[in-house]
Amino acid sequence: MSHAARRAQHVSVDATRLLSRLDRFAQIGATPRGGVNRQALTEGDREARALLAHLGHERGFAVRQDAAANLFLRREGTDASLAPLLLGSHLDTQPTGGRFDGALGVLAGLEVLETLEDAGVSTPRAVELVAWTNEEGSRFSPGAMGSRAFADETLPESWLDARAPDGARFSDELAKTLRVLPDVPVAPLGRPIASYLELHIEQGPILEREGLPIGVVSGIQGTRWLEVTLEGASAHAGTTPLAFRRDPMMAAAVALAALQTAVMEQDEDARLTVGRIEAQPGSINAIPERVCFTLDLRHPRRERLNEIDALVRAVCAREAEQARCTVQVRVLNDMEPSAFPEPMLALAEAACTKAGLPHRRIVSGAFHDALFLARKAPALMLFTPCRDGISHNEAEYAEPQFCVSGATALLETALAVLHSLEI
Ligand code: HGY
Ligand code: MN
Ligand code: MN
Repeated sequence: MSHAARRAQHVSVDATRLLSRLDRFAQIGATPRGGVNRQALTEGDREARALLAHLGHERGFAVRQDAAANLFLRREGTDASLAPLLLGSHLDTQPTGGRFDGALGVLAGLEVLETLEDAGVSTPRAVELVAWTNEEGSRFSPGAMGSRAFADETLPESWLDARAPDGARFSDELAKTLRVLPDVPVAPLGRPIASYLELHIEQGPILEREGLPIGVVSGIQGTRWLEVTLEGASAHAGTTPLAFRRDPMMAAAVALAALQTAVMEQDEDARLTVGRIEAQPGSINAIPERVCFTLDLRHPRRERLNEIDALVRAVCAREAEQARCTVQVRVLNDMEPSAFPEPMLALAEAACTKAGLPHRRIVSGAFHDALFLARKAPALMLFTPCRDGISHNEAEYAEPQFCVSGATALLETALAVLHSLEI
C-alpha cells in the first residue's frame, strides 16, 4: 500500500509508552526535589544517550552519532537517496532542570518513529530522530553546540578548550561521550535534510493561560550572552575607607541596578538576567580584586538587542571608571532572532486542526536547536503548555494529556510534511 494510501489510515501515538519513557528518562540525573540534573556531556547525559541508542537498536532503527556527539536514530524510507525528515530536541538539562525541557521533544520524536513502525507506514524518505549535544549551554558555552555544529558542518576550535565551572574541558568530555557508544558509528558533521520538526514545552505561561494544548512557533527571539569582568584592588574590609577603595563588587552592583531600571523596567519585550556572579578571592573580609558576572540578554528585535548590548557596555564602563576599576566584556553566545517559514506554519496548523487540537501561533522566548536547523532546511517548532510556565526549575511540569497531544501534533505534522515533500 503506498504511503499516501496508508496516510488515510489513522495512526495514533501510544500514550502509555510515551509517558512511561518520560518517567524512565526522568530517573537519569533525578534530583531530590523532583527535577533533573543531566548536564551536557556528564555521566547522566551519557547514560540517557546510551538508553536512547538501546531503544533505537531494539526497534531495528539505525543508530549513529556525529563528531559533535549528536545521536541519530533512523527509520529507513523506501528511497535511501532522499534527504530525511528530522525530528529532534535535546537530552541535556540545566543543573536544576526539569523532566520535560528537551526530553519531551526527543521522546515524542521517538514515539513518532515507533508509531510509524507499529503501523507499518512506509515512507519514501527516512524519518530520523536526533538528540542534539549541549543545547542548554549551561555547563559549556555557547548553547546549542550540537545543532550549530551540524548546521554549520564544523566544530569551532574555540569550543574545544571551553571549560565547565568544574574545570572539565569540552573536548575531553566530548571524546569520553563518543567512546561510551563504541558500537555506534561516528559520521561526519552535517548532511542534507528535507525538513526539521521539534516539539518542546513552552517554558512560559501563554498556552496554559489560554487553555490551549498546542503552540505553533512562528519564530525565536534573539539571545546574547556576555561575560563582564571588573578588576579593582583587593584590600582590607575593615581598614579601607571609601576614598581608598577600588571595589569591583560595588561597581557591579551599581551597574546592574542601573541596567535593571533602564532595560527591564523600560522595555517589556527585553530580558536581562544575571545567572552567575563570582568574586575573587571571595574572602568575607577582603574587598574583591575581581568580579565576573554573566548577562543573558534577549529581545525579539536584533537592533534592540544591539542597543541593550551597547548600554550594558556603557554603564559598566561608567561604573568601572567611577570605582577606579577596569572592565572587560566577552561575548559567549550570540543567536539572531529567526522566523519559521509560513508554509511550514500552515502545514502544522492544518495538521493540528485535523487532529482536533486547538492552537495558536506563538514566539519562543527561549532559544532552541530548531534555530540552527532552520539554516539548513524548512524547520518548525510545536509547543505544549507547562504548569505556571515554569522551566529551568525542578518544579517544571507538563500534564500527561498535553505531552500526548504534543506528540500527536508532532506525528500529524510529520505526516503532513512527508506528504507535502512527495508532491
Ligand atoms: O536558554 C534557553 O533559551 C534554552 O532554554 N536553553
Ligand atoms: Mn530546551
Ligand atoms: Mn532549557
